[in-house]
Amino acid sequence: MNYTEPYIPTPEDIIAQMLTVASLKQDELVYDLGSGDGRLVIAAARDFGARVVGVELRMRLVKECRRKVREMGLSDRVTITHRNFKKVSLRKADVLALYLSSYTLNLLTPKFMRELRAGARVVNFDYPVLDWKPVRELKVTPSSWKEPHTIYLYVV
Ligand SMILES: C[S@@+](CC[C@H](N)C(=O)[O-])C[C@H]1O[C@@H](n2cnc3c(N)ncnc32)[C@H](O)[C@@H]1O
Repeated sequence: MNYTEPYIPTPEDIIAQMLTVASLKQDELVYDLGSGDGRLVIAAARDFGARVVGVELRMRLVKECRRKVREMGLSDRVTITHRNFKKVSLRKADVLALYLSSYTLNLLTPKFMRELRAGARVVNFDYPVLDWKPVRELKVTPSSWKEPHTIYLYVV
């Protein structure tokens, strides 16, 4: 099925910090590539008033996320797309929120360069975009993980 990544969710207590570091504003358009169970997608729509596109290949996670979005009444702000994120256009994104390995980020970097508009922000948990210089790095320690990890912010 072309999975590029395993499913490892971002710790819940890191999500608000990622979206805050990205200065996410009401009505901005966020893409989460590999949106998993939708925890970041839901927080961005519910707590920041953003519009969100989650792209996820694992159907079990797509269904789980769509159900939660419906139950929370967020369907007007959130779209969950069952597709390979390599095939989804990023041209309209204001913010990309990513928890993907360096290997996958490296594969996607040319696509980011082609498609993201100038000024779009990219916020990553744990793995940097290797060729880019972050405008901000924040050390965070998820409560369940003990060791510090890093949130990286880039502006295109
Ligand atoms: C490390 S998890 C991150 C999940 C979520 N973004 C979060 O922060 O909790 C990566 C996700 O990417 C999904 N994935 C892997 N390869 C994919 C692909 N090519 N297209 C879309 N989703 C993919 C996996 O199923 C998994 O849910």
